[in-house]
Amino acid sequence: MPLPPRPLIPLLLRTAYSSRGVSTLRTIPLRSYSAPSHGTSPPKPGMPPRKQRKTSHPSHPKPGDADAADASAGDGTYPAAVQARSIAHFTPYPPTHTHRLLEAGPVLLISTSLGGKANLMTCGFHMPLQHSDPPLVALSLGEWDHSFSALEETGECVLAIPGCDLAEKVVDVGNCSGLEVDKWERFGFTPLPAEEVRAPLVGEALACIECRVHDRRNVSKYGMWILEPVRAWVNERREERRTFHHKGDGTFVIDGEGLDLRERMTKWKYLQD
Ligand SMILES: Cc1cc2nc3c(=O)[nH]c(=O)nc-3n(C[C@H](O)[C@H](O)[C@H](O)COP(=O)(O)O)c2cc1C
Repeated sequence: MPLPPRPLIPLLLRTAYSSRGVSTLRTIPLRSYSAPSHGTSPPKPGMPPRKQRKTSHPSHPKPGDADAADASAGDGTYPAAVQARSIAHFTPYPPTHTHRLLEAGPVLLISTSLGGKANLMTCGFHMPLQHSDPPLVALSLGEWDHSFSALEETGECVLAIPGCDLAEKVVDVGNCSGLEVDKWERFGFTPLPAEEVRAPLVGEALACIECRVHDRRNVSKYGMWILEPVRAWVNERREERRTFHHKGDGTFVIDGEGLDLRERMTKWKYLQD
């Protein structure tokens, strides 16, 4: 699996001064940003190859768009919008890397069981979708994952939330295939019987959520599985309670200090039971 191309910084914005003494912004083009192609390159975690969609709007030059470099009036001055962003220290960022800014949920282990053989994979692309009636969670899985086939066939899985003491093992789980190795045995995870699904709970996890597939309509288009949690278990006895979160490039952050702002959540009191 090749590494994605390093983000190329498209523009270097710096403040300069015109001969009239008025602050202007000069844009020095370095190298144009070239978006990684998803159509032909081998799959990347959480990024199944997709059809490229046209997202640009002709009247809205995108930040990071090399064309922005050409937006100057020709005299070294730039439109007010470009200046305002630069003064606020916003620099361009590739839209293809924005998952690195958003990806904040804890890294999960997904347990599945196909034909009596249990497997594990690592997952960073997930989100809660709905609180209740029924509760729903979404996952993005690549069709190249063996776990994808297991989910497709069985419609069941367990989402296990590991503590950061397991981070190295969890990353290793996400770098090999259940078709080739028994990951439970290799990485020393303990399968425990679940109540509602055949996939096992992960004995070392902080919490395990038994799920059934609720909606497959976005699977072929986005690899997006919508799951209904049908039973959940938490282990209050585990000493290391901090989860870890993938920043999208092989670096992680560990849960930090808690912040209790329940008093301010006046509109959402009912979420505090
Ligand atoms: C930190 C991390 C996060 C990952 N997130 C995802 C993800 O969200 N979706 C996905 O399809 N694969 C993801 N992967 C890759 C899978 O875990 C990997 O392809 C794994 O080998 C699949 O195992 P399997 O073939 O046994 O199912 C991630 C890997 C790592 C290391």
